[in-house]
Amino acid sequence: MQHLPGRCSGLGPPGGRRRGAARGRTPVARRSGGVHLRLIASGGVTVHQAAGTGYQRAADAYERSRPSYPLPALRGLADAVGLEPGRTVVDLGAGTGKFTRLLALTGARVVALEPVAAMRGRLAELLPGVEVGSGTAEATGLPDASADVVVAAQAWHWFRQEEALAEVERVLRPGGSLALVWNTFDDSVPWVRDFQRIYFGRAPEDLPSHLDGRWRTLLEARPGWSPVEELHLPNPHPVTREGVLERMASSSIIAALDAAEQERVRAEVDAVLRAHPQTRDGDRVELPYTTDVYWTRRA
Ligand SMILES: C[S@@+](CC[C@H](N)C(=O)[O-])C[C@H]1O[C@@H](n2cnc3c(N)ncnc32)[C@H](O)[C@@H]1O
Repeated sequence: MQHLPGRCSGLGPPGGRRRGAARGRTPVARRSGGVHLRLIASGGVTVHQAAGTGYQRAADAYERSRPSYPLPALRGLADAVGLEPGRTVVDLGAGTGKFTRLLALTGARVVALEPVAAMRGRLAELLPGVEVGSGTAEATGLPDASADVVVAAQAWHWFRQEEALAEVERVLRPGGSLALVWNTFDDSVPWVRDFQRIYFGRAPEDLPSHLDGRWRTLLEARPGWSPVEELHLPNPHPVTREGVLERMASSSIIAALDAAEQERVRAEVDAVLRAHPQTRDGDRVELPYTTDVYWTRRA
């Protein structure tokens, strides 16, 4: 692994903290596109408070419990935006490298940026051949016109999107592409709806989500980008019952709760699993996701 110049977020370790608070750090309120965000600044890197606290605690659970992405989604994207040897792709909010490892399969040079130290540490262990840096989407630290493609998988909603777009425009070469990828729960499934209700019940007011479509509104209003193209593929994720509990625990806002509240969440998820015919019996459960892939080219 090569480490790019950058700054470590250095956010604190797990432990029974006040809901949504990071010990020793003062969240700051900031307005972005009409939305008030609570941010944590540490070591010069600023991210949403829930991401900074939660992902610092939940890196292992994240790596174990989150789904990958279907290979046809990677292939479709690679064909559309030209991911191949000789090209450079930047993976913003790379986390533990779930999408990074697929990008590496294309033969392109992959630069993974992840501001939360614990997530970045797992990525570095798992993908020693990938260049890793601690830059944010808003301040990558990368040179002008140095990338052919910028990707954000399961991450763009966490960014201050206008600032991130300006940074992507700076970093992309002319004709380069931006790709946004999400694994989205199929909440037409009743037990999944109940599972998600537990999560949304704990969500802070400023919790960002790609489901509000704000990312698309901003992107489509911005001059110099081609119309957004998209691809959607089923991505069912077979797990154990414990895997479902861990999936919940890997959510940043749940990981940021104190220990007693996390226990209550666990009990509620367990109750949902016991209540529904699809999840009541046996140890295997299928988490139904769709992988949503969007891309647009810079004029
Ligand atoms: C849900 S994880 C996605 C990780 C990975 N891309 C994947 O596909 O599993 C979102 C990641 O975005 C990171 N993140 C949050 N705010 C960020 C920002 N402003 N700039 C860059 N990354 C950020 C978080 O630390 C977290 O690791």
